Amino acid sequence: MSWQRPLYSPLMDGDDGSPGYWAVVRAEDIATVSRRAEIFSSSVGGVLAEDFPEEVLEMASSILTMDDPRHRDVRKLVSSVFTPKRVMLIEQQIARQAREIVGAIRDRGEAEFVSSVSARLPMWTISEMIGIPPDRREEVADAAESMVAWGDDGDGGDDAATKMLNGIVVLHGACQDVIDARREQPENDLISALAAAEVDGERLTDEEIRSFFVLLCVAGNDTTKQTTTHTLRALTDHPEQREWLFADYEARIGTAVDEFVRWASPVMSFRRTALERFELNGVVIEPGDKVTMFYSSGNRDESVLDRPEEFDLSRTPNPHVAFGGGGPHFCLGSHLAKMQLRWIFHELYTQLPDIRAVGEPERLVSTFINGVRRQRCVFTPA
Ligand code: HEM
Repeated sequence: MSWQRPLYSPLMDGDDGSPGYWAVVRAEDIATVSRRAEIFSSSVGGVLAEDFPEEVLEMASSILTMDDPRHRDVRKLVSSVFTPKRVMLIEQQIARQAREIVGAIRDRGEAEFVSSVSARLPMWTISEMIGIPPDRREEVADAAESMVAWGDDGDGGDDAATKMLNGIVVLHGACQDVIDARREQPENDLISALAAAEVDGERLTDEEIRSFFVLLCVAGNDTTKQTTTHTLRALTDHPEQREWLFADYEARIGTAVDEFVRWASPVMSFRRTALERFELNGVVIEPGDKVTMFYSSGNRDESVLDRPEEFDLSRTPNPHVAFGGGGPHFCLGSHLAKMQLRWIFHELYTQLPDIRAVGEPERLVSTFINGVRRQRCVFTPA
């Protein structure tokens, strides 16, 4: 535990105005902060380093920035639409989509991996699941990306706050169009189910559906995308691990996929705000203190992981905190993310067994997402 000066915030073009924050870097402390949600709030100012106005949190982060009892109620409602039948249907779509994505580059011999592979499956899965029409998917994915890449001016263009607000406006517009259409004519997609979902007599308003939609687009797009890119790089740098995995893919991928996610740690940090005085690992946290959990550090914690600096696909147990440290906000999409990773690597190594990353990755500038903008790859054309 250490006290750190405030983070530079591209959104405010300066520091975030707070006196600083507690850095939580050990897996065990991350678990405590995540689980003691009655002490460490997600709703006070949000879960990013900088405080966000309440209206922005309402519009953009849904359950991620709620506390109980509202978090419990709304999470129950949105989880109720992920039925086993729906998840099975989604898996069939993911398998088909992964095959098509890899099939589209197989005769080229080289590709820019992020745009032609990593980015495509999560965007496709989320859009299909939600019911975004094909001609709006690119627009939705770009808007979702602008909401996590605000600190990166690699593309020139607008300042950080404008990028984020534009993203919110585009996503709300796209979602409302789908809500209106599904209220008239329900289909077999998530928005139709969310519009009809009822738990304990409670239903979601259009605004709540839109906000959950923004969260899904942001949480479900970039995370899996970054993990895919980091994994290609790791499998390229560790050919012995690749050989081990592909010698018996079906039996080994279940274990390996957790190491993909630990290694990538695509979400580097989330923050909480203390509501009460609390002693943690030798320091006293006062009410109002910001507390930032560094998942990327917890995922290299030698007190819970054996040889954490090694990429070891057979690692069991693998007590990583990439999906959060447990507790009520634990990632709602962890099964879906693992499913996508299983299928995309299944297709890559059946269709393009010698695919590898070449050259240096072009990194995203961010204090939040461990991202790669571009990564070249080569393979023998199939
Ligand atoms: C490798 C991929 C992913 C990683 C590493 C990841 C990571 C995380 C993390 C760290 C949290 C916060 C946990 C906490 O505060 O305790 C979270 C929450 C969440 N994730 Fe994921 N995520 C991934 C993929 C997905 C996908 C594919 C979806 C949905 C389609 C998704 C939906 C969500 C939602 C809805 C929440 C908020 C849960 C709540 O606040 O109750 N995530 N995720």
